[in-house]
Amino acid sequence: MKVLVIGNGGREHAIAWKLKQSPLVSELFVAKGNAGIWEIAKKVDISPTDVKALADFAQKEGIDFTVVGPEAPLVEGIVDEFEKRGLKIFGPNREAAQLEGSKAFAKQFMEKYGIPTARYRTFTDFQEAKKYVEEVGAPIVVKADGLAAGKGAVVCESVEKAIETLYKFMNQKLFGKASEKVVIEDFLEGEEASYIVMINGDKYVSLPTSQDHKRLLDGDKGPNTGGMGAYSPTPVITPDVEKKIKKEIVERVIEGLKKEGIFYRGFLYAGLMITKEGPKVLEFNVRLGDPEAQPILMRIKNDLLQTLLDFYEGKDVKIEENPRWALDVVLASRGYPEKPEKGKIIHGLDMVRKLKDVVVFHAGTSKEGDFFVTSGGRVLNVCAYGNTLKEAKEKAYNAIRYICFEGMHYRKDIGDKAFKYLND
Ligand code: AMP
Ligand code: GLY
Repeated sequence: MKVLVIGNGGREHAIAWKLKQSPLVSELFVAKGNAGIWEIAKKVDISPTDVKALADFAQKEGIDFTVVGPEAPLVEGIVDEFEKRGLKIFGPNREAAQLEGSKAFAKQFMEKYGIPTARYRTFTDFQEAKKYVEEVGAPIVVKADGLAAGKGAVVCESVEKAIETLYKFMNQKLFGKASEKVVIEDFLEGEEASYIVMINGDKYVSLPTSQDHKRLLDGDKGPNTGGMGAYSPTPVITPDVEKKIKKEIVERVIEGLKKEGIFYRGFLYAGLMITKEGPKVLEFNVRLGDPEAQPILMRIKNDLLQTLLDFYEGKDVKIEENPRWALDVVLASRGYPEKPEKGKIIHGLDMVRKLKDVVVFHAGTSKEGDFFVTSGGRVLNVCAYGNTLKEAKEKAYNAIRYICFEGMHYRKDIGDKAFKYLND
């Protein structure tokens, strides 16, 4: 079968890597990909958000199945466009993608269907938002309504910081239209975890659990990023917590979507805070997480294409998990997340290829002649397997010692939050 993957990042490299292992795949295309992806798939030089051009390409090339990585094309309606033309594509349609595309929509939906989440209010008027923040006090969380590449949520430790954030979002329009409307919500205390399922109408199946590291610096300091590292599975999601997540979150989402008459087929990612009162939703994403997809896909034993096709057709599927741990450390460019540098030569990738249990997924990389060069904020995901989390961590950080590019930085504490739950 001819398969097309949409997207450019580490998540898409992991999707392509996993699909490539399927004997059902005859040709693999990626639009547009990155230098790592181009080693295993054919480059399609069309932007992931140029929905019409992608559908034209899929028709002309006779693509049998398309998998969408990032949220932007989904929110743009790539699934609607492909389906209109009778092309098979895995992801939610535009209406369903609002669960990620609009925080206000997602919060309203959660409130209506009793899905546990932080108390919130929505504002389009700066003065009213300011007044609310002054009334409620800090800490408090300010979020842009629309898509902001993972940078639209600010945890504010003081009222002043919250007002400053509101000013930047609403008056200075930091994220354009996406931040004209804001959601202000209560600060939740607890530990974060990511729970991803595949949904097809009434049916769902859970993927392995994981934990992201959203802040830029060690010890969860610094600004929010797209994610600086992840590991799977996470002991934060115990069997009891998972039961609650399924019952109070996933199943209520499915029920709610049905009542709203919204058809959902694709991945659904619940970003959770595991609080003393139980799991609460911080956000929904209508796709796999990045960097969570990397360790998750490393641990799934299934033939990914077969599983997606079966699930797409409405069959029951079972996810077989590798009992080993997987851990991913993101290597970032100087200046990330604000203004990442680009065009720096990456050294050491050939050395790392030889290491056992290590896989490197590219994110912001490009090729200049024979050299790999940086082309974005998150550059590489250095991932490793281990029989214990500790072993996976050691292998990943050991591999990083071989890699360098000017301005490279990364967190040194990926996985550390899990150790308090583990014996080895
Ligand atoms: P979001 O884009 O909504 O997932 O928010 C990004 C990050 O901000 C989350 O991963 C959390 O670390 C933090 N965050 C968001 N909402 C809250 C909240 N209500 N309480 C505490 N932290 C939050
Ligand atoms: N890692 C967080 C996200 O994919 O949104």
